[in-house]
Amino acid sequence: MFETLQSPAADKILALMQTFRDDTRDNKIDLGVGVYKDETGNTPVMRSVKAAEQQLVNEQTTKAYTGLAGDPAFADAMIDLVLGDTVPRERIAAVATPGGTGAIRQAMEFIKRASPDAAVWVSNPTWPNHPSIIKYLGMKLGEYRYFDEDTCGVDFDGMMTDLGTVAAGDVVLLHGCCHNPTGANLTLAQWGAVIAVVKDRGAVPMIDIAYQGFGDGLADDAAATRMVAESFDEVLIAASCSKNFGVYRERTGILMAIGRNADDTKLAQGNLAFLNRQNYSFPPDHGARVVTMILTDPALRADWEEELETTRLGMLDLRQQLADELRRLSNSDRFDFLAVHRGMFSRLGTSPENVEKLRADYGIYMVGDSRMNIAGLNADTIPVLARAIIDAGI
Ligand code: LMR
Repeated sequence: MFETLQSPAADKILALMQTFRDDTRDNKIDLGVGVYKDETGNTPVMRSVKAAEQQLVNEQTTKAYTGLAGDPAFADAMIDLVLGDTVPRERIAAVATPGGTGAIRQAMEFIKRASPDAAVWVSNPTWPNHPSIIKYLGMKLGEYRYFDEDTCGVDFDGMMTDLGTVAAGDVVLLHGCCHNPTGANLTLAQWGAVIAVVKDRGAVPMIDIAYQGFGDGLADDAAATRMVAESFDEVLIAASCSKNFGVYRERTGILMAIGRNADDTKLAQGNLAFLNRQNYSFPPDHGARVVTMILTDPALRADWEEELETTRLGMLDLRQQLADELRRLSNSDRFDFLAVHRGMFSRLGTSPENVEKLRADYGIYMVGDSRMNIAGLNADTIPVLARAIIDAGI
C-alpha cells in the first residue's frame, strides 16, 4: 500500500534547515529555524534547567504514568505563568501536550469535535504549521490580513476589516506576543479593538503563545493573552515552553481551555483528556516536571527569570545594532522597524528572489518570506548581513 502515498509538501522551515546543513561554505549564516543561539552560536541548556534536571535525577523515585492530562502541578504552574489570577481556576481546563505544536493540534481537534463547521482564522502570514494542521484535519480555514509590506508593521485596518467578516462560532487564532513570522505586534489599545470586533462577531479567540519572555518581559508579553482571557466566556490558549525554557526537544507545552462555567469546563477537561488518549495517551513529563520545579522553587525561578531576561535583552541589542548598521549603510531610516519588532523574528519585507540571492551569493539563510531569526545573529555577523542586504539591492 505504501506505493499509493503521495509525498507531503515540505515544511519550508524544516526544508531550509536541511539546505543549510548541506551547504559546505564555512561563512554561512543561519537565520532560519526559530531556535535561540548565544553569541557563540550555541543553543545552551539554561542554568535553571540543568539544576532542576540534576535534582530530578536524584529525587525521582518512579517513572510510572502521570495522568492523561499530565501532572496537575504543571497545569497550575503554567496557568499562573500565562494567566496569573485573571480567570478563576475552576473555569480553566488544561492538558499537557508534546510541545506547543501538540497544543495547537489538540486545540484544532477539540474545535472540530465541538463545532465541526467552524472556520479557524489565521493571520496572513502566520507560522506555516497553523494552516497546515487546520487543512490536514479537513477544517475550514480563514485568513485575516496582518502585515503591511510597506511599513513592515501591522496592517491594522486590513486586520479589522477582515475580522469584521468572521462568522459567529468561528475561531480567531491570534499570536499572544512576538508574532511569528513577522515580529510586528499589536499595541494593547489595538488588542482592545480586536477583542471588541471578535466579540461583536460572536467568535471564539484562540491564543498561540510560544515566546513569552522574549519580547517585552514575562508579564508584558502575557498582557494581551490576559486581556483576551478576561473578555470572553470561552478562550483556547496553546502555550509552549520550548523557547522560554530552552527545552525544545523535551516537547513541553500545554493547552488551556477557558469555559463559561465550572460545568462546561469539566466537559472540556474530559474531552481534552480523551484527545490525549487517542493521540498519544500520556503526555511527556520530563520537560513538564523540570518547568514545574523551576516555576515553583523561588531560587530556580529567580535564576530562570534572570537568564531569560539576559536572553531577551541580548536579542533587543542585536535588533538595535542591525537597525543602526542598516541606517548607516543605507543612509535612511527604512530599516528602523527592525528595532521596533519584538521576539525572535523579523520579516525583512523583501521578495523570495532577494532571499534566494542572499542565500546563493552570501550564504545567508532566511525563510523564503524573508523571516529572519534575530537570535541567529551576533556582533560579527551583523555587519556582514547589513552589507549583503544593501549590496543585494534590498
Ligand atoms: C519556527 O517557527 O521556526 C519554530 O517554531 C520551529 C518550528 O517548529 O517551525
